[in-house]
Order: sequence, then structure tokens, then C-alpha cells
Amino acid sequence: MSTPPAPPGPAGPASTPPEVPRGAFITLEGIDGAGKSSHLPAIQAWLQERGATVVATREPGGTPLAETLRELVLHQPMDALTEALLVFAARRDHVQQVIVPALAQGAWVLCDRFTDASFAYQGGGRGFDLPLLQTLETWVQQGPPVLQPDLTLWFDAPAALAAARRAAVRAPDRFEAQDAVFFERVRAGYAARAAAAPQRFVRLEAACSRDEVWAQVAAALQARFGAAGLPATGARLGPAR
Ligand code: TYD
Repeated sequence: MSTPPAPPGPAGPASTPPEVPRGAFITLEGIDGAGKSSHLPAIQAWLQERGATVVATREPGGTPLAETLRELVLHQPMDALTEALLVFAARRDHVQQVIVPALAQGAWVLCDRFTDASFAYQGGGRGFDLPLLQTLETWVQQGPPVLQPDLTLWFDAPAALAAARRAAVRAPDRFEAQDAVFFERVRAGYAARAAAAPQRFVRLEAACSRDEVWAQVAAALQARFGAAGLPATGARLGPAR
């Protein structure tokens, strides 16, 4: 016997707006030099080849105001509280101007760093108060529910290897100039975030060749999105809140 349809709610079905299938919010994380940014274009292409509209962006940054704040955070001396307030101020503008509108339109958002970086760098690296970061997170990503990525790809590499990679390519900014002890604390900060949200974090072993890292990335994307299909099928994504 088939189950009878559920009765309509108080307002009735006619008044319920059609639900726009939303794209996923994917973030890339890892210590400086782990190699995450170099995989962003290929991840974008992987999604686009499957029909997704992708907004690729970064933090701090992603809007004119947030990019201005990025310059300050990366290059001006400041204390840890100022730094934390500025990255969250930049995030507020980015969430409001870019991320939420893109997701509402069904686009996929691919973001190079997000709030896990604040917990890892300001929390783990600088030793900043975690409950205060949680308060800022709630204010800035206000919901309910508080906006969180659906999937976080964490490129994990030892601090010494990441430092050697960085040294080969660029002059350091305020964060990149920190020593290996700082970056091991940041790495531990990411490990704590991953342990707290295992359903959305995928740890990638980034201490290997670029091709080997990409194979892990592609496997993670396939495992998470390959079977369900991308938004053309209206797929809603798993319980990664
Ligand atoms: P990064 O992605 O490393 O930029 P690039 O590879 O172009 O140099 O990000 C810039 C720095 O910002 C990085 O060192 C980490 C830092 N950061 C924070 O400290 N807190 C945050 O919340 C974010 C988003 C970034």
C-alpha cells in the first residue's frame, strides 16, 4: 500500500516558493607552500566540465574592500586581535557580496581559504582565543544555520617542506616570514578543525608530487560529487553542515 501524501502545511503548497538547488561551497586549506592554490584551476575545470557554474574566489579577498583589507593584513604590522578583526571584516563583505548570492543562484563557490584559516592561523598560529573566533564566525556567517563549507580540501604538508617550496618561488609576506614552529602550530590548528568536522574535511597528503596530489583531489571530488551528479540534476549535498 502506498503512503498517502503528507497534508500541506498551514500556508499550503501554493505559497511555498520553488527551492533553487544550490551549488556546493568548497574551500581549499593548508599552510603556505602546501600547494593548494596551484590546484584551484583544475578543480574549477573539473566542476565546469560537469555542468557547474563556478565562482572561484579567495580569502582574505574576493571583493574590492576585502582585497584592500588583504593588503593590510599581509603587509602591515598589527597585533593578533587587529589581524583577527580584519580577516573577519573582509570575510563579512565577501560572504555578503559574493558567496551567499552565488550559492543562492545555484552557482558553486570554490574558495581559496575560509574560516578554517582563521582558526588555524589566528587560533593555532597566533594562539588567539578560540571562543572569540567562534563568536566572530557566528556574527560574520550568520544564519541560521551559520554558513559553512560543504567540502574542505585540506592540503597537509610538514612545515619544513612547505617552507622549502615557498622559498623557491616568492618573497615572504607577514605570515610566510614566520618560522617552522609557527607553521606546525597552524598545521595542528587545521588538524583540530578536521577532527571536529570529519564529514566535511578531506585530508590530502600534500608531501608528494603535484600529479599525486591531483589524483587525491580528483578522487575526493569524484567520491563526493561524482555519483550524485552536479546541479543540473538538482542534487543537494550531504549532511555536511
Ligand atoms: P594565501 O592563500 O596563502 O595567499 P597566497 O598563496 O597568494 O600568498 O593566503 C594569504 C595568507 O592569509 C596566508 O598566509 C594565511 C593568511 N590568512 C589568515 O591568517 N587568516 C585567515 O582567515 C585567512 C583567510 C588567511
